[in-house]
Amino acid sequence: MRCQVAIVGAGPAGLVLGHMLHLQGIDSIIVERRTRDYVEQRVRAGVLEQPSVDLLTDLGLGERLHDRALVHNGFYIRFDRETHHLNLNSRSGRHSYVYGQAEVVHDLIEARISAGQPLIFGADEVSVTGIDTDRPVVTFSDGQQTHRIDADFVAGCDGSQGICRTLPPAGALARFVRSYPVAWLGILAHTAPVTAEGMYCAHPDGLSVHSMRGPRITRQYLQVPAHTELQDWPDERIWQELLRRSESDDHPPLETGEIFDRSIALLRSEVTAPMQYGSLFLLGDAAHIVPPTGAKGLNLALSDACVLSHALGAYYCTGNSEFLDAYSATALPRVWQAQNFSAKLTSVLHRLSDDPMEYELRRAQLRRWASSDAEQDALGEVYFGLPFPTPWRAETRT
Ligand code: APR
Ligand code: PHB
Repeated sequence: MRCQVAIVGAGPAGLVLGHMLHLQGIDSIIVERRTRDYVEQRVRAGVLEQPSVDLLTDLGLGERLHDRALVHNGFYIRFDRETHHLNLNSRSGRHSYVYGQAEVVHDLIEARISAGQPLIFGADEVSVTGIDTDRPVVTFSDGQQTHRIDADFVAGCDGSQGICRTLPPAGALARFVRSYPVAWLGILAHTAPVTAEGMYCAHPDGLSVHSMRGPRITRQYLQVPAHTELQDWPDERIWQELLRRSESDDHPPLETGEIFDRSIALLRSEVTAPMQYGSLFLLGDAAHIVPPTGAKGLNLALSDACVLSHALGAYYCTGNSEFLDAYSATALPRVWQAQNFSAKLTSVLHRLSDDPMEYELRRAQLRRWASSDAEQDALGEVYFGLPFPTPWRAETRT
C-alpha cells in the first residue's frame, strides 16, 4: 500500500487528522490496533471547548453534536458546604459543550467510512521504520499476513501507550514529566445531575467532580490515592464518598443509583518536545498528557491535528516545508497553556498534601474565583479554549 500520510491510531487525533487531510485532497491510511467497537465504547472525558466545536462544525461534523451536546456557561464550585456558580462567559459569550469522547469518535469514524477512506481496525504488530528518511514505512499484521504501507510522513496518533513516541533515538526529544500522588476514579451512573452544569467539590478530604452526559446519566469522579485498586471500591463506598464530599447546606444530596462503568486514571502531566522527528509527527496523547482536571486532553488532540493538517496542506500544495518544519514550535505554546491551566486547577481543587497552610491557600483562591468577575473572565478565557494556532486548511490554493 502507498499513501501520502500513514496515521497510527484511530483516537480523536488520528481520526480528525485523517478527515481534514481528506478534505484537502491528501490521502492517508489509518491503522488502529483495537476493534471499532472497542474504540467507540471507550469512556473518557467529554467536555469540548468552543474552538473544538467550531472546528468540528466547520468540518461538517456538527449535526449530531449540536443536536445532543449540553451547552454550558461555566461550572459550579462547592467548598465550605456552599455552592457557587462561576459564570465564565458573561463577556465572551463562548461556551463549553458536554459531548462524550465516544460520540466524537463515532462521528469521525462514520465520516471516514462514508468518504470511502481506508481505516484498518484490529491491526497487530504495528511497526514503523525509516522515520529518519523521507520514505517511512508502517507494517502490520492482520493475523495471517503482514502488510506494508509506504508513506511520505507518519502521524503518531497512538496515545500515551503507543509505539510512535518511543521511535526517535534516545535523547532526540526532551520529555517533561510531573506525576501527582493521586488518581481519579471515574464512574458513569443512571442518576440525575445535581446541578445544571458540572461541579467541582473541594472537600478538605479531597476532590469530587459531578458532571453529566444527559438528563439521567452522570459522570462523576473521586480523587483517590494513586495506588488504590478498583476492587477496593464497591458501589456503596463510591456513593458514600461522593455524598460526603459533596454535602452542602444549599442543595439536596446527590441521587445514587446504578453504576454502569468505572475506571481509575492516574494524574500525570507530560510534554514531549519537539513533537516531531524526521518524517514522524506526534499528536495528542502520544505527544503530551494533561491531568484530567479541566478536560483539556481531547481538545489538545484536535488543536495539534489542525496545525499538522494546515502544514501538510501547504506542503502538498506548494512543496514548501516551512510549516511542517514549524509544526512543533506552532503547536507547543498552546500545549503549555493547557498544561498551565490544568496544573493550576489541579492544585487548587485537590488535596495534595496534609499541610494546613496549603488548604488555607487553596480556600483563598476558591473564594477569589467565587467572588471576582475578573477571575471568572480569566478562567473562562482558557476553560472555553484559547484559539487554535492555525486554521485546519492551508490557504494557498487560490
Ligand atoms: N498501533 C496502532 N494503534 C495503536 C497502537 C499501535 N501500536 N497503540 C495504541 N493505538 C491506538 C489506541 O488503541 C487508540 O485507539 O491509538 C489510539 C490513541 O487514541 P487516544 O488514546 O484516544 O489518543 P488521542 O487520539 O491522542 O486522543 C487524546 O484521548 O486519552 C484521551 O483524554 C485523552 O481526550 C484525550 C484524547
Ligand atoms: C467530564 O465530564 O468527563 C469531565 C468534566 C470536568 C472535568 C473533567 C472531565 O474537569
